[in-house]
Amino acid sequence: MLSRRFPDHGHVLTKSISPDLFRAALSHWTSGVTVVTTSDPAGSHHGFTASAFSSVSLDPALVLVCLDNRANCYEAFDQSSGFAVHVLAEGQEGLAGHFARKGADKFAGLDMDLSPAGLPLLPDALVRMECRTERRIPAGDHLILIGEVLEAQTGDGDPLVYYRSDFRRLADGSRA
Ligand SMILES: Cc1cc2nc3c(=O)[nH]c(=O)nc-3n(C[C@H](O)[C@H](O)[C@H](O)COP(=O)(O)O)c2cc1C
Repeated sequence: MLSRRFPDHGHVLTKSISPDLFRAALSHWTSGVTVVTTSDPAGSHHGFTASAFSSVSLDPALVLVCLDNRANCYEAFDQSSGFAVHVLAEGQEGLAGHFARKGADKFAGLDMDLSPAGLPLLPDALVRMECRTERRIPAGDHLILIGEVLEAQTGDGDPLVYYRSDFRRLADGSRA
């Protein structure tokens, strides 16, 4: 285990971190896993797996998700008026892998509903949130999508966990 005493780099914050060190540092951050979906104006469905999800505000109810500028679905999310966030449950790592793979229609053969606003909704997620896109903020090589949560359904069960580049299970869920 790394020593928790870090070297003192002084007060000069000018040098950029190397991409490898940045990735390694971020891999220690434990997150849940989401699949974020939307529809484009022609009615085609789009979605991607995202761990860069966060709550933003309680009142109004806002969440955010960060989307890579190079994603095939970028244009669809940049133009659509809303998106749906699915928090994945334990055992849904296959679905996470499916939506992380680039390819043709990710929804072909998938069980799916449509929200009244036309957003593709996947069944069996642990939590499902339907959002109106409140704001888009370009940030480095990602686009921050801030959404107002208009509808949510929550299920029972444990979440799928992502830590150090792997899908994990919550151990025994006991309190620390
Ligand atoms: C566990 C996991 C978490 C991910 N988190 C994000 C994320 O937060 N933002 C993002 O843009 N891509 C993320 N990705 C990668 C995208 O899911 C992947 O590049 C996806 O194929 C992009 O959509 P596209 O097929 O439309 O290009 C993640 C992938 C995995 C496996």
